[in-house]
Amino acid sequence: MFEVSYKKTNFETTQADVAVVFIVDKDFKHRWAKAQNFKTFGYEGVGLFFDQQNKTLYFGVEYFDKDLLAEAAVQSIRFLKKMPFKSLKIGIYGDNKTMERIILGIFLGAYDFDTYKSKKIAFCLEKIFIANESYKNSKSLSEKEVAALEEALSKAKILSESIKIARDTVNTPPEDATPNFLAKIAQKIAKENKLICNIGDKKFLEKEKMGAFLAVNRASPHSPYLIHLAYKPKKAKTRVVLVGKGLTYDCGGLSLKPADFMVTMKADKGGGCAALAIIDAVAKMRLDVETHVIVGATENMIGANAYKPDDVLFSREGKTIEVRNTDAEGRLVLADCLSYAQDMKPDYLIDFATLTGACVVALGEYTSGIMGHNEELKSRFESLALESGELAAKLPFNRHLKKLVESKIADVCNVASSRYGGAITAGLFLSEFIRKDYKDKWLHIDIAGPAFVEREWDINTYGASGAGVRMGVEFILDVAKKG
Ligand code: BES
Ligand code: ZN
Ligand code: ZN
Repeated sequence: MFEVSYKKTNFETTQADVAVVFIVDKDFKHRWAKAQNFKTFGYEGVGLFFDQQNKTLYFGVEYFDKDLLAEAAVQSIRFLKKMPFKSLKIGIYGDNKTMERIILGIFLGAYDFDTYKSKKIAFCLEKIFIANESYKNSKSLSEKEVAALEEALSKAKILSESIKIARDTVNTPPEDATPNFLAKIAQKIAKENKLICNIGDKKFLEKEKMGAFLAVNRASPHSPYLIHLAYKPKKAKTRVVLVGKGLTYDCGGLSLKPADFMVTMKADKGGGCAALAIIDAVAKMRLDVETHVIVGATENMIGANAYKPDDVLFSREGKTIEVRNTDAEGRLVLADCLSYAQDMKPDYLIDFATLTGACVVALGEYTSGIMGHNEELKSRFESLALESGELAAKLPFNRHLKKLVESKIADVCNVASSRYGGAITAGLFLSEFIRKDYKDKWLHIDIAGPAFVEREWDINTYGASGAGVRMGVEFILDVAKKG
């Protein structure tokens, strides 16, 4: 991996093998489309042109926007990383928040999941220099400005590394990425950041009376784990508990998924991986917020001992659950994990889960759904998510949809009686396991769409994106400031 650093010399005099220049021009496509080697990405408003003679990559964007520039940075690195350049220089654009996003793009542009490829692409870039544009400002940055830029640089680097952990783990095939594998990743994160780490096995789940979680695990040859990581800085005033759905494979169980829908279900651990990645970043940034992560790790498999539609389960919270569809397993695992999480008396309780296909239908593949009972908290989370560069939108609960998860024979049913509003009824099912005192402290984030997309988009490659990581870190950064 390369190093990114600020150079005091101005852009023209900075020595580098290749330069990247962003052009913000609303007439971009008319002016540049005729140029040789012009290459567009996704839509016409973004494109690059490589000047071979001057070793300069021009990247055009139609308007000034952090996310567009981050995407430009990603595409620039992807274009250049196949070439034999060792050093690269890039100018300063906008404020530090913009620079942070551009640097994140630079780091993530290098991301590839090639663990299972026999031939790995050799990577030449070693050094990336950030230098000031001399035509705008002949002076180099003041010491204070340099410190602020370096802070942005460090934040982007930490974020990119945490996102890489989430992506690599989600992308790892289910035969390798078992619940035990997730526990090992958690232990590694704990060791690196001096976190408290407790891994509860099947016996622990039995002792905790997690009947819903255990039922999902029954047909799997792999033991389930309840992973708990804790980061406890001395000065912390607020406690955030993150809960993640860690289904290392979801074949649907006896309510088996059709073949085409089963592919990509290795990504059903996306919420758990995001939560692990968030605490990694929070600890590396040394934020003064007590942060806990609870991941419910298991497979949802099929077999003679599988749990069945018609079963009634006894959850840790004491409520009984009628099972009508074994493919609605995430909410069962989360019900018991959320119960456990509330015992820790959180100020904020947030779960991340690839919970429903309905959320993808509602919002499209790129946007996460935000649910909960506290309007103010939902709005705060939504704007922080958008600020972080991820897409998220609120989905509203209502009392009519709440009725749909009622059961004739148990306290609650694991699927709604109508298929409409499936993302919300799944959220309302979870709400059944949230105690009165925590209703206003809880948020449910459905990342089923963006967690895994089988094409490049935004700053992401094919496959796992690390959805949830940026918004989660942004939220905890805000909690560090405001409580
Ligand atoms: N893991 C799936 C949800 C999912 C779907 C994630 C597509 C990512 C992409 C979840 O366990 C599931 O199967 N949900 C069912 C619920 C239904 C049976 C009520 C669904 O969404 O169809
Ligand atoms: Zn399922
Ligand atoms: Zn699932």
